[in-house]
Amino acid sequence: MARLDPHSYTDSSHPLATHVALTLYFDFAARTIQGSALLTLPAAHTGPLILDTRSLVIHSAVDPLSGKPIPFSFPASEDPIFGRPLSLSLSAQSAALVVFSTTPSSSALQWLSPAQTASKAHPFVYTQCQSIHVRSIFPCQDTPAARFTFSARLNLPRPLTAVMAAARAVDPRDPTAGEAGPACPDALWCAPGRVVEEFVMDRPIPPYLFAFAAGDIAARDVGPRTRVHAEGGAALLDAAAREFAGAEDMIRAGEALFGPYEWGRFDLLVLPPSFPYGGMENPMMVFLTPTVIKGDASGAQVVAHELAHSWTGNLITNKTNEHFWLNEGFTTYAERRIVEVVQGEERAALNTGIGWKGLNEEMERFKDNMEFTKLKPNLDGIDPDDIYSQVPYEKGFQFLWRIERQIGRPSFDEFLKKYIATFKFQSIDTETFLEFLKANVPGIENQIDLQLWVEGTGIPPDAMEPVSAIYSKIVSLANEFKLGKIPKEDEVADWSGQEWELYIENLPKPVDASQLTALDARYRLSESRDYEVKVAFLQLAVSSGCRDYHGEVEKTLKQVGRMKYLRPLYTALVHGTAEEEKMLARRIFAEARDCYHPIAQGVVESILAKHS
Ligand code: BES
Ligand code: ZN
Repeated sequence: MARLDPHSYTDSSHPLATHVALTLYFDFAARTIQGSALLTLPAAHTGPLILDTRSLVIHSAVDPLSGKPIPFSFPASEDPIFGRPLSLSLSAQSAALVVFSTTPSSSALQWLSPAQTASKAHPFVYTQCQSIHVRSIFPCQDTPAARFTFSARLNLPRPLTAVMAAARAVDPRDPTAGEAGPACPDALWCAPGRVVEEFVMDRPIPPYLFAFAAGDIAARDVGPRTRVHAEGGAALLDAAAREFAGAEDMIRAGEALFGPYEWGRFDLLVLPPSFPYGGMENPMMVFLTPTVIKGDASGAQVVAHELAHSWTGNLITNKTNEHFWLNEGFTTYAERRIVEVVQGEERAALNTGIGWKGLNEEMERFKDNMEFTKLKPNLDGIDPDDIYSQVPYEKGFQFLWRIERQIGRPSFDEFLKKYIATFKFQSIDTETFLEFLKANVPGIENQIDLQLWVEGTGIPPDAMEPVSAIYSKIVSLANEFKLGKIPKEDEVADWSGQEWELYIENLPKPVDASQLTALDARYRLSESRDYEVKVAFLQLAVSSGCRDYHGEVEKTLKQVGRMKYLRPLYTALVHGTAEEEKMLARRIFAEARDCYHPIAQGVVESILAKHS
């Protein structure tokens, strides 16, 4: 009896479910889902079977063959991070049907009222399950080690439609009496105005890739295997279709580099502004923040990243979150290779530069907690949302880039293809990767200090800042800022958002507030339509004690819920020397909280709590 994963109650001696069949009835008024999950095991099992749950109500557990109840135990209280284990007691059974409902505090789900949507006419709900939130939608073995296939039958009020990170099995249809079984009474399931949608995912996925959204969603084709979906009307769809027109070229670039695209479709869903991430690699249906649509095709980087996960992540993922770098580090490397093909070497180098800067800043953030600067940290008792950082992305990227430099690109490309083909549809750990590396690149351990890279803290001495003409130019312009120099119009004439972002991030601290205001008066960075630029500027302004921008900060924090923007802005405010800024942070959060996804609410709460 041992845990398989520090973030899951799954017991390593228990069988892992291979298929889950879900029946879900959406109650928008109550902000809950009533449902059942039928879990199938590879063989008959006798004894306890532990499932993860959090913020769920468990109504019953039933043997689907006999219809008899399955005894279960369920502790009275739950851990705020891990939830509580549901322990079913099986006797020679290979399937279990659990009947449950979600609660309004189920953290994977954000329910938006009509007023919070773009259409203003219909409610909307969507999921974000990575890293350990799927257990707040249905009971399951919520560890990436437990891959399963699934089918899902969703019952919604018309005229809403659903999308899933799965294939549509049939067109939307009327409900049928009896089909919901114990999940939901027929009186509700078959009530007038309800519609049923069905989906299947026939490739084994880790639980964190489970995803759906439901609302007034429209769609437009942007490529042979890509359709963009969005709530928010024709104008948003037009802009999204333009922004993502290059998706097919990227898929082809990915296939040339990493092997066949295994997921059939590569559709995109543009979420409301409260979506807590830039993108989420849900298979067949990537979820994206609307902030990537800027009208300048720069959303490409985020799309390249989520697409790259189709190989490095969704095909091969980490066995537990302690090996998260296998997922995000490989994907950051793969993303930059795709960007290099579709946008050129300079653009890829610029992204590497932004990443390098980000990695160095994390070293500062974790200087009292160097464990989290390791590629393979100990995460016992740690909420993955609390320590989300650039380390697995950028230190992981640097490690792979280091190996590439050692063996040369052609050999590394061959190695990558073989790695993906060997481990596809598996969840592996760092040791498995290292063994594979040593077996396929004999002697590598004598050339690179693999142990230092994987187990060591900080940035290894053989990591490398990218070499790029644009990058160096920007860094030297930024350094001149302390001499009182602001770049001239002709020096920035061809800068896009990324150049500005890099410039702002490289300004030597402390920055003089009046000089910042002068920079902004000339280039209007605080009003940029590009949130990366705007937030980088506002963060610097706040942490430089510049009060002029409090209004703009408040507006931003009320417009978007992407944590990449919330974290630095709230952090800058609570680090402020003046009590006024801390109060401002608390007031803005009190007013904006309802618009954030529960995951973002939790993250902001913990930022405010650390500085109260
Ligand atoms: N899978 C991540 C998002 C994520 C990570 C969600 C951990 C929950 C827990 C996604 O692929 C990602 O990395 N998104 C980035 C995009 C960027 C690196 C281009 C983001 O959201 O900023
Ligand atoms: Zn990622």
